[in-house]
Amino acid sequence: MWTSFAPTATFTTSVAGHLVKFAGITGADSVLDVGTGTGVVAITAARLGAKVTGLDLTPELLEQARINAAIAGCPEVVWTEGDAESLPYPDASFDVVVSQFGHMFAPRPEVAVLEMRRVLKPGGRIAFATWPPEHLVGRMFAFVGRHTPPLPPGAAPPPLWGSPAVITERLAGSFQTPFFARGMMTIPVLSLGHFRLFVETSVGPMQKLVESLAFDQERLAAVRAEFDALVQPYYTNNIMHQDYLLTRADV
Ligand SMILES: C[S@@+](CC[C@H](N)C(=O)[O-])C[C@H]1O[C@@H](n2cnc3c(N)ncnc32)[C@H](O)[C@@H]1O
Repeated sequence: MWTSFAPTATFTTSVAGHLVKFAGITGADSVLDVGTGTGVVAITAARLGAKVTGLDLTPELLEQARINAAIAGCPEVVWTEGDAESLPYPDASFDVVVSQFGHMFAPRPEVAVLEMRRVLKPGGRIAFATWPPEHLVGRMFAFVGRHTPPLPPGAAPPPLWGSPAVITERLAGSFQTPFFARGMMTIPVLSLGHFRLFVETSVGPMQKLVESLAFDQERLAAVRAEFDALVQPYYTNNIMHQDYLLTRADV
């Protein structure tokens, strides 16, 4: 699903700066970045001197993360192929667990929360960035959902992780009351067509949707027109505006 994600990391890089600061990470912390992708959050934390591990399901992205870490002068970051729902670390391994648009794609939120809590030390904290359902990316995921087969039973839609009420409920029992903040990721694009091409070639769920319609050009054209109408209100001054939610909670 995510092998072609690397170009998108150019834009998630600025969010990583925001998340690492929001999480209060310092050089004294041991940090796990869940769904690290090409390592933007992990490497930002490592540049502060933190002892960092990045975990992701997608080996192709971890390969890029290793290259990024070497360029950034952080070769000591540990990269692990693994699943947010089954973290391959002992209990109480980290001071901080972060996830930027990562753990929200694990299908069973309750399992991911218990795993992220399990690997935190006493006094530790969690901090993550997610896409709210009412803003552009959340609405794009709902759009993809309308045009693809339903999720398997028990799988939760990822943008629910962008709702403060849902987050508060999901963290209750494992964490103290969460603290929220918001930010905006911006993507410079020359036209809606450029944006659609970018999303269709580097955002896995959209790429899969377009592939599934390759033999039905009429329906593909209708889906593309619907996509353009959906994203158009978020496009001004040659910039696509994508609002995100930040959450932090102590053990
Ligand atoms: C939208 S990308 C975000 C990557 C990176 N954190 C960033 O902000 O650039 C989502 C990432 O989550 C990873 N991912 C999805 N489901 C996962 C799971 N269950 N466990 C671990 N990683 C997962 C994908 O492989 C992908 O790298």
